[in-house]
Parts: sequence; structure tokens; C-alpha cells
Amino acid sequence: MSSSRPNVPGLPWALGLTFYELAKYGRSGWWWRLHWAAWREFRGLDVGQVVRRHGGDSPGEFSYGETPGVTFLEILRLSGLKQGSTVLDLGSGRGLGVLTAALNGYKGVGLEMAGEYLNRARAVAQRVGVEVEFLQGDMLTLDWPESHLYFINSTAFPKAFRQSLVRRLEELAPGSLVVTYDWALHDGFKLLIERRLPVTWGTVKCRIYSL
Ligand SMILES: C[S@@+](CC[C@H](N)C(=O)[O-])C[C@H]1O[C@@H](n2cnc3c(N)ncnc32)[C@H](O)[C@@H]1O
Repeated sequence: MSSSRPNVPGLPWALGLTFYELAKYGRSGWWWRLHWAAWREFRGLDVGQVVRRHGGDSPGEFSYGETPGVTFLEILRLSGLKQGSTVLDLGSGRGLGVLTAALNGYKGVGLEMAGEYLNRARAVAQRVGVEVEFLQGDMLTLDWPESHLYFINSTAFPKAFRQSLVRRLEELAPGSLVVTYDWALHDGFKLLIERRLPVTWGTVKCRIYSL
């Protein structure tokens, strides 16, 4: 995961991911509408600048890398989540994960600190005509809307940040699902599935827990 620009470990990987998505969803109108709208809204945004503005020289949790829609939907499938359930992305970035979820019958909520991503993600939702709630704030302090699945792209989250976050996760209702990347939670969380999945900067060990 790159700390200063959208993280792509080379053009071949990015192209491979795009072809993988096209093979799965290329015949679905929602995929084209989402990607066209996202391109229109985000084309002027320098993600590297956003990262530096919020994270300075050692961006830590503000490092940027994305979960492609194909991986986001695979996680929802693996978790056995029923359509209509609520998915909260803690640190939703450009919002493509929750937008993809919403376009496939889930209720998507994104929580993000950086307003630069949020306003554009809201505009994408409007363009594609899907309802997604985007909340601005700090995931460590803001009240989280009650959800069925809490998704955390945690690969770059530093140790102290994870320690604060896990205290919030421990307070969730029994039966809640928690998804992490490259982060094993302790015994209070029951590990349901562990799977290596593709993301924009390579692959991650994705873990799905229930409380
Ligand atoms: C690696 S990106 C993940 C984007 C998206 N979830 C995905 O998987 O495609 C992590 C996001 O967390 C956001 N973030 C970092 N610290 C945060 C905080 N304390 N509260 C809310 N969002 C935060 C960053 O701005 C960044 O957009």
C-alpha cells in the first residue's frame, strides 16, 4: 500500500484486476454506471495530496489503497450476509465498496475522516441513483450506526490505532460481523473465515469474525 498515491504495484496488476472485474460484472449495467460516475467525480482529485494533508510524512492509517468491488462482494458472500443487511465501512475512502454493496441490495454506510473523498462519494451515489449514507468523522470517537457487518481495511493501521479501534469493536452487539485485513483479533472474536483476496496494492489476508 502506497502512502502517498493510489497504490498500484504496477500497471499489470491494475489491468489484471480490471479484467477480473470486467469478466465478472462487465455485463452488469450497475458496474459501468458506478465506474463512469466515479471517474467523473474523482478525476480531479490528487489522492496523494489528500493523504499528505491528513497524514503528513508518516501517513499510517491515512495511507490509501482500495478494495475492488469484486473483492468487496466476495467478502459479503463469504460472510453469508443477507441482502438488505447494513454494511459499515470504517474508513470508506472514495466509497466504492459501500456503493458497490448498495448497488447489489445491501444497505451501505461509509464513515470517513477526509471530506475530500466524502463529498465526491456522495455525488457518485447521486449520479448512479443509489442511497448510501456517508458520515464524516473520526472512527475512534464518532458513534457508529448499528450495522450487521463492520468492514475495516486495516492493513496500514498502526498498532496504537488498532488498539483504540479494538476497544470500540469489543462493544458491538453479539452476532455482529467484523472484517479485517492483515489483522488478527483476539479470543473474544470468533474467526469464521480467513482468505487471501486481491486489493489494489496486492493481496491481503482477509479475516471475517463474529462477536
Ligand atoms: C486504506 S483506505 C480504505 C478505503 C476503503 N475502505 C477500501 O477498502 O477501498 C483507509 C481510509 O481510512 C480513512 N481513515 C483513516 N483514519 C480515519 C479515522 N480516524 N476516521 C475515519 N476515517 C479514517 C482514510 O482517510 C482512508 O480513506
